[in-house]
Amino acid sequence: MTAQVKAFYHQSTSTLSYIVFDHVGGHAVVIDSALDFAANSGQVETHFVDQLLAFIKDNSLTLDWILETHAHADHLSAASYVKSKLGGKIAVGKRITEVQKTFKSVLDISDDELWDGNDGFDHLFEDNESFSFGSLTGLVLMTPGHTCDSVTYLVQDNAFIGDTLFMPDFGSARCDFPGGDAEVLYDSIMRLYGLPGDTKLWICHDYQPGGRELAYLTSVAESKAENIHLSQNVTKEDFIKFRQERDSQLDVPKLLYPSVQVNIRAGQLPVRFFKIPVVSEKL
Ligand SMILES: [Fe+2]
Repeated sequence: MTAQVKAFYHQSTSTLSYIVFDHVGGHAVVIDSALDFAANSGQVETHFVDQLLAFIKDNSLTLDWILETHAHADHLSAASYVKSKLGGKIAVGKRITEVQKTFKSVLDISDDELWDGNDGFDHLFEDNESFSFGSLTGLVLMTPGHTCDSVTYLVQDNAFIGDTLFMPDFGSARCDFPGGDAEVLYDSIMRLYGLPGDTKLWICHDYQPGGRELAYLTSVAESKAENIHLSQNVTKEDFIKFRQERDSQLDVPKLLYPSVQVNIRAGQLPVRFFKIPVVSEKL
């Protein structure tokens, strides 16, 4: 059976969430769901993700998996909310434990607040592990670099690549978060470029450069030919140099700290407050 893909665009964070399913009345996975979050007030809403829930109900789908491509730094995962409404197992790459450890230290999160090592996640994927939903099988490819825990979910010829690449006119993702690494990202992109040319690459963010229409689907062949950061003509050394220089000029994402506090807990909110570490060289 051919996998069906339904995309949803979360405008305030430029995030794409996906539902992949085998057929109406069949089985589904959700990939990279998002909560609505107002940083100024702390208000959390579910208007966006409720559209995904409605689609699943309207198509009589059974939700088997709630997947995260990585611990996002720019939006709050709705994984736990989705699970509370529809069931399913929340899963992510196994190196999430490294991200948890890093931010537990950065944010001074106590053992009482967290957890037993994989808090909130039902399953941590190994590289090349497969998973099934209905008549479909997915394959997990570890594609670290943007973050150490980044994975790609491959379902038939559909690759859900997280922030490993963006659309060809926007390039690639930053690698300067803890555990990120431009050289490792290069190798991960080469892993994706090793897939058949007609493999569909479903993008996790689109920032509509130049005001163009929203776009979130490219292919291995198109990205190889046209990606502005890493076409097949760019050397590894040039990519690493470019990425490191560019990353050194980027601001911290607006929602970094709230995002990681939720996302390392599989989308569960902290009890009442978010923490923001104070960073100062002079005081
Ligand atoms: Fe990301």
